[in-house]
Amino acid sequence: MSDEEKPAERRRMVRPPSGGTAAGRGMGTKMKTADTKSMSSQQWIKRQLSDKWSEKARAEGWRSRAAFKLIEIDNRFHLIKSGSRVIDLGAAPGGWVQVALKRGAKAVVGVDLLPIEPIPGAELIQADFTHAGVDQQMMDLLGGAPDLVLSDMAHNTVGHRQTDHLKIIALIEIAADFAIRTLKPGGHFVSKNFQGGDAGGVLARLREEFETVKYVKPESSRKDSAEVFLVAMNRR
Ligand SMILES: C[S@@+](CC[C@H](N)C(=O)[O-])C[C@H]1O[C@@H](n2cnc3c(N)ncnc32)[C@H](O)[C@@H]1O
Repeated sequence: MSDEEKPAERRRMVRPPSGGTAAGRGMGTKMKTADTKSMSSQQWIKRQLSDKWSEKARAEGWRSRAAFKLIEIDNRFHLIKSGSRVIDLGAAPGGWVQVALKRGAKAVVGVDLLPIEPIPGAELIQADFTHAGVDQQMMDLLGGAPDLVLSDMAHNTVGHRQTDHLKIIALIEIAADFAIRTLKPGGHFVSKNFQGGDAGGVLARLREEFETVKYVKPESSRKDSAEVFLVAMNRR
């Protein structure tokens, strides 16, 4: 997988790079020398500081530039309703959780491999969503079927194209399967995806289970990134 195709937020979050966390840049940088690593960290910081969406996120109090992607998607499709129950998969550092709450969600449960600083009004757990029982734990915390399932999950790339591709598709499938099992009729599902990724199987299933399925590339998603979002609306 080329650098352009790598899931990008981890390099682009508002906070500075931490030098390798469970889901951070750690795996991608492991093989690098101290010199190349510090060079790429410097480039990351420079890019971060000059990025208009990151600046805007800092100014407006969003925890990540990713917040604008959900804002754009929601402005277009009106997925978050006052009183919605929302599940957020891959929620750290919490930009999407903030957006869901700000737009009127009454219950938001987020999960991430990484710890998330508390956000009043949300239940946030640190766990691997692909592990058995985590989905049920989230459902118990939510207190009812979700109206909206969000997944911005992005794995650590290992640099081997086929392996990375399989991991991307696996996360989308797991998130889609959860959404199909749990969403209320009329509910919606949003998932990060990557152009060129063969999500054909999951796409076909989503088209069967939802009235409308669209691909969206928000303005705030970097042009040079292959990231796109799948938006599946109105669970049948
Ligand atoms: C792009 S970031 C999410 C940004 C978030 N939407 C926001 O607005 O701040 C992707 C997140 O997915 C998480 N992730 C990846 N695989 C995961 C898994 N199996 N279970 C839980 N979280 C996962 C990563 O730890 C990472 O924090």
